[in-house]
Amino acid sequence: MALALGLMSGTSCDGISSALVDFRPRVMRVVGCRTVAYPEPLAQLLRRSRTLTVPHAAQLNILLGEWFAQAALRLLRSTRTPARRVAVIGSHGHTVYHGPRDPIPCTLQLGEPAVIAERTGIPVVADFRMRDLAAGGEGAPLVPCFDQAWFGHGMPRALQNIGGIANVTLVGRTLSPVAFDTGPGNCLIDAVVRRITRGAQSYDRHGAMAQRGRIDQDAIRRLWAHPYFRRAPPKSTGPEVFHESLLNAVFGRRWTSPALTGGTSRGIDVLATVTYFTAYHIAESYRRFLPATIREVIVSGGGAFNRTLMTHLARLLRPVPVHSIARYGLPPQAKEPAAFAYLAWQAIRGRINHLPGTTGASGARLLGTLTPVLPHSAARPLGHLVTLG
Ligand SMILES: Nc1ncnc2c1ncn2[C@@H]1O[C@H](COP(=O)(O)OP(=O)(O)O)[C@@H](O)[C@H]1O
Ligand SMILES: [Mg+2]
Repeated sequence: MALALGLMSGTSCDGISSALVDFRPRVMRVVGCRTVAYPEPLAQLLRRSRTLTVPHAAQLNILLGEWFAQAALRLLRSTRTPARRVAVIGSHGHTVYHGPRDPIPCTLQLGEPAVIAERTGIPVVADFRMRDLAAGGEGAPLVPCFDQAWFGHGMPRALQNIGGIANVTLVGRTLSPVAFDTGPGNCLIDAVVRRITRGAQSYDRHGAMAQRGRIDQDAIRRLWAHPYFRRAPPKSTGPEVFHESLLNAVFGRRWTSPALTGGTSRGIDVLATVTYFTAYHIAESYRRFLPATIREVIVSGGGAFNRTLMTHLARLLRPVPVHSIARYGLPPQAKEPAAFAYLAWQAIRGRINHLPGTTGASGARLLGTLTPVLPHSAARPLGHLVTLG
């Protein structure tokens, strides 16, 4: 039995998703997983982390390291797993900047691995993106290596992750994997929810609010006119592209409802429309860019919990079946942390954990930097949660 623990903080800034996974030669088992929500001030700080000064970014790196360590320790406690049984932690970190096409290609993930290793006593593999970038790749996407290893041996299937941004990997026995960001995942939905609830809610639980609104087909056409959707893969995007300013351009500024009552206010209609658009752009991007006829769509990420979104997706992709990845034993928000646990587990065994074809790197590399620990080094948990001062 080989236990590896994965940690992920994505563009939604909702919290740290963790998964403890038992990897065997042909099967994996998620022993436990959870998402520890960030307190709202930290979530807000992460959303504007691009604008931090260097001293503040340096502090955030340490603070996030503490949060990641605590997320790992909580998962170990809740699964009653002693740290010494865990071979490695794979920590993605939190991306504060990703600029693979800048004059000097660069990327930056924060969440100091030394702090995670120190608090848990477990070796940490982190900074996966950097090596790919150094080898001429875009630094993303990295999860397709996991998709290919665990889902790539059957019929053509689309693994659709719906986090802040939505991304797809096409895998299948007879195919070379194809992967790209399709467009906005939950980022527009969350932005609308924050706006219409005046910050009281950060997401549309199970899509319940969106279900009540009317879809504005004219706005769908305007959203679909965004040039990103015409670009051919490989391509990637971020919440800085699919952002409040796009909502203002398409819907104007006067849709924030003064009070949320049961009726279908303009705000609820905007939410219904961006929820439908999230499914629409995924289905249309498949038609435009996937080179093979897919036989199944497997959805992961927090978006898999949005029933309205999932219903739209199933209708738009019919007759192709759309399933939550939970069907395969992976809770939706455990998928990405499980993928980084896998990449780390491969790294410490000296096995390739990279699909250069999906990133544009010049060849296959071992991704990640290792922060080792002395054998049997004692874990020294802090015993309390570090909160933002
Ligand atoms: N129960 C739920 N119902 C609807 N949406 C949800 C639910 N749980 C999570 N989400 C959505 O998923 C997002 C987080 O998804 P996640 O996969 O963690 O994305 P990221 O990798 O960008 O952090 C939340 O911001 C929210 O929009
Ligand atoms: Mg998340």
